[in-house]
Amino acid sequence: MTDSYGRQITYLRLSVTELCDLRCRYCMPEEGVCKHGHDEMLTEDEMIAAVRAAGRLGVRKVRVTGGEPLTKPNILSICRRVAAVPGIAEVDITTNALRLPDLAKPLREAGVKRVNISLDTLNAERYAFITRRGKLADAWAGIEAALSAGFDKVKLNCVLIGGFNDDEIPALAELTRRYPLDMRFIELMPMPGDTLFGESAYIPASRVLEALPEAAPCENHDGVARLYRLPGAQGEIGLISPLSNHFCGECNRLRLTADGHVKPCLHSAEELCVKGLDEDGMREVFLRAIAAKPQQHGALSAHDPSQSARTMNRIGG
Ligand code: GTP
Ligand code: 5AD
Ligand code: SF4
Repeated sequence: MTDSYGRQITYLRLSVTELCDLRCRYCMPEEGVCKHGHDEMLTEDEMIAAVRAAGRLGVRKVRVTGGEPLTKPNILSICRRVAAVPGIAEVDITTNALRLPDLAKPLREAGVKRVNISLDTLNAERYAFITRRGKLADAWAGIEAALSAGFDKVKLNCVLIGGFNDDEIPALAELTRRYPLDMRFIELMPMPGDTLFGESAYIPASRVLEALPEAAPCENHDGVARLYRLPGAQGEIGLISPLSNHFCGECNRLRLTADGHVKPCLHSAEELCVKGLDEDGMREVFLRAIAAKPQQHGALSAHDPSQSARTMNRIGG
């Protein structure tokens, strides 16, 4: 399907849970989420019906997100069934890696092609601080499990936070020389209710290039990321810059939240509900969501937070 601005909508981000075993400060509140009743959340069958409906409209890639998708007990079944939906050529997942030592191989066998993993720091104390409860060694064990499970691609996501991890850009980028993985640096997006970080936390992705004078631009483009490579590196460096240089003109995405709301845009408040509908009804809702996709999101800065009306764990990134 093509939207009102000529963009081909081929990518669905499917959030399967709002829950997470971490509490990253930029993503969710310390107390966690107010747990909804099961009847408010999409069932596995409804998720599959939604993916089938999206597939009929031209969606070819599904990225499974959360919260933390690997906390969902039926995650392997969801991935296996999404991979089997007609038209879906690729199923990927975004995770904090904590459960990958057990789940990397089964996910690969279930048909997951690519894995994106959150890793904001290589310092154990900082990791415990930013995640409010995680152990860096556990995340690293998950990354190693992903690297040995045979995925087509492993990417690490680092949310850049001025005064917290900007001094680690060279060390994080160095991972692309030592391992066959991509390292992406993401500008911190101000979400509703954010009071945790001061203005100086919002640093532009260009700071990464200043810290990596050897990085050379790549010809290709990867979704929301502009790509660079260090000499001799196995993987690429990606810059995701929703604040300093947004990529809305190329947006090919829809989002479905775990409680059954289709979001035409990550940063707008508009949502359309599919909970309780059959596949045909869901297809109609997706059509309306595609028609409602805005040309771009509103201003995003320390003073202009996202209009999304949800914290990131309730959207799925
Ligand atoms: P691939 O292109 O499939 O690798 O996915 P991705 O990079 O979009 O997925 P991932 O879940 O790893 O997200 C990386 C970062 O990009 C997160 O911080 C997301 O919130 C952000 N992101 C993903 N899609 C969008 C978008 O449409 N708009 C904005 N502003 N940010 C996005
Ligand atoms: N700004 C930028 N990225 C964010 N993520 C979560 N919250 C934010 C935010 N406020 C990232 C996580 C994860 C991905 C799905 O979204 O680091 O890798
Ligand atoms: Fe959990 Fe990911 Fe949010 Fe961190 S960023 S709290 S790992 S969902």
